[in-house]
Amino acid sequence: LRHFLTTEGLPRALLTHILDTAESFSGVIGKSVKKVPLLRGRTVINLFFESSTRTRTTFELAAKRLSADVLNVNVATTTIKGESLVDMLHNLEAMQADMFVVRHAESGAAEYIARHVQPGVAVLNAGDGWHAHPTQAMLDVFTIRRHKGAFEPLTVSIVGDIRHSRVARSQIHALNALGTGEVRVVAPRTLLPRDVEGLGVRVHHDLDSGLRDADVVIGLRLQRERMQGALLPSESEYYRRYGLSEARLAVAHPEAIVMHPGPINRGVEIDSDLADGPRSVILEQVTNGIAVRMAVMSLVLGVAPESTPEAT
Ligand code: CP
Repeated sequence: LRHFLTTEGLPRALLTHILDTAESFSGVIGKSVKKVPLLRGRTVINLFFESSTRTRTTFELAAKRLSADVLNVNVATTTIKGESLVDMLHNLEAMQADMFVVRHAESGAAEYIARHVQPGVAVLNAGDGWHAHPTQAMLDVFTIRRHKGAFEPLTVSIVGDIRHSRVARSQIHALNALGTGEVRVVAPRTLLPRDVEGLGVRVHHDLDSGLRDADVVIGLRLQRERMQGALLPSESEYYRRYGLSEARLAVAHPEAIVMHPGPINRGVEIDSDLADGPRSVILEQVTNGIAVRMAVMSLVLGVAPESTPEAT
């Protein structure tokens, strides 16, 4: 694994290996700060061209738990002055960077950067446009496996703005590769991707049928920053038809869990009773992001432990 840019096309064995490696790290992310020395002497550079709360901070924490030196480049004040992205990269590489963690509004940006870095420098995609958010998908499937065990018997319903969601796309590829029984997308036609037929999902336009007997329900926000004039329902109309609440979950499996990659918009795609209720694993997802990102970072740099690492 040289870079980590997408979950599309990754084999089940590799995804399972990432999950197992993350499991071995989960003991070193508790409140009493512990570190493992796997990335001691390595430099990780966070390059976030788009805003982030969860992904940037958990990548930083993950790198620090692995004992790496972490730089957070403020791209808003660094990339001006006419310098090209590639020149900027080469300058950061000259500081002996080992890894770039990249978020960008353009689909394909992380792949572009991966094509231009020196051999031995790894690129992790922290979300590119509508395309992919692979570590988010991995922390989501990690969370599902922790709660539900095997993927084969599961029905997973992804509800909301699938069309503009890099998270949904990466989740669908990962869930299918891991052998999930049924992956559903639940959305109005205007919020489905044009290539939905080829994604290996069942499409539902009605929330009740989409949630029926689901074991896992994943809510997504309306990603208005990527919509550019799309024909959309109003927020109140959207909530009436697709808003997730404890009452709407009555048709799901009684032990269904509720997930959301965040940020959540309460009263739009999800009600507080559900987001803060006993079914919700939304904040667990955030915590699990640290172990999953530790796993991916150590795997791409070829230092992942065979068993539970020694923490100090
Ligand atoms: N889930 C997610 O990508 O959140 P952030 O935008 O806060 O990183």
